[in-house]
Amino acid sequence: MSKLYIIGIGPGAIEQMTLRAREAIGECDVIVGYKTYVRLIECLASGKEVISLGMTEEIERARKAVELALEGKVVGLVSSGDAGVYGMAGLALEALKERQADTVAVEVVPGVPALCAAASLLGAPLGHDFAAISLSDLLTEWKTIEKRIMAAAESDFIIVLYNPKSGKRTWQLERAREIILGHRPGTTPVGLVTSAYREGEKVVLTDLERMLSHEAGMLTTVIIGNLSTYIHGNKLITPRGYQKKYGPLFPE
Ligand SMILES: C[S@@+](CC[C@H](N)C(=O)[O-])C[C@H]1O[C@@H](n2cnc3c(N)ncnc32)[C@H](O)[C@@H]1O
Repeated sequence: MSKLYIIGIGPGAIEQMTLRAREAIGECDVIVGYKTYVRLIECLASGKEVISLGMTEEIERARKAVELALEGKVVGLVSSGDAGVYGMAGLALEALKERQADTVAVEVVPGVPALCAAASLLGAPLGHDFAAISLSDLLTEWKTIEKRIMAAAESDFIIVLYNPKSGKRTWQLERAREIILGHRPGTTPVGLVTSAYREGEKVVLTDLERMLSHEAGMLTTVIIGNLSTYIHGNKLITPRGYQKKYGPLFPE
């Protein structure tokens, strides 16, 4: 029976992939995905038809996956991190809807999103309420993005910035930092994680004042602490508030 798996493959390393994602890949006749992600899971796809497309071809990937499922194949559409977080899941479900492909069984397989992968390498920065904001203004107007950054900064959310910078989008991270500095001191801890759980992994602990002196790119996730976040050793920690309510963990 035909089926479309929409699979979040996690941040990169095979060990960070869920068991269900691995099983789902094993059940597929065809794998469709962005070439970098297909390369990351190559070792699980031997003997399968593999269709790898370019970065800007998201619509083509979704169309292809739906067409192949309608031909009766078991298709795996792979997406990095979690497929539903700025990933292919929404587009694929919309493609199924447009094509009225109600006969195709669908399973969305969750994956470890970049924000969790990055947070794990930094320590525990997401211990309280947070907002994830993509700085990509290719599909969302910049004024909407600014409004969201302002609201998150004003409300003391920990802020996770996805898509902070690319070859063409060079000023957005600076502007986001400027807005956040209007509500938080320059000493606010910041973590920049590039290529989490992939070759070239880089973890930087810094603060709002100095964050721009570190490199950020298409594979970086930026985590900006709230007013309670602090750095201890090489770990970023946002307290949940236990000690405030119950006192020290090890009273004298
Ligand atoms: C289109 S979004 C994909 C998000 C993905 N679906 C998820 O669940 O995290 C691409 C952005 O995710 C972040 N990202 C993806 N993989 C990453 C990794 N291995 N390390 C750090 N950031 C990553 C970067 O901010 C990048 O610009």
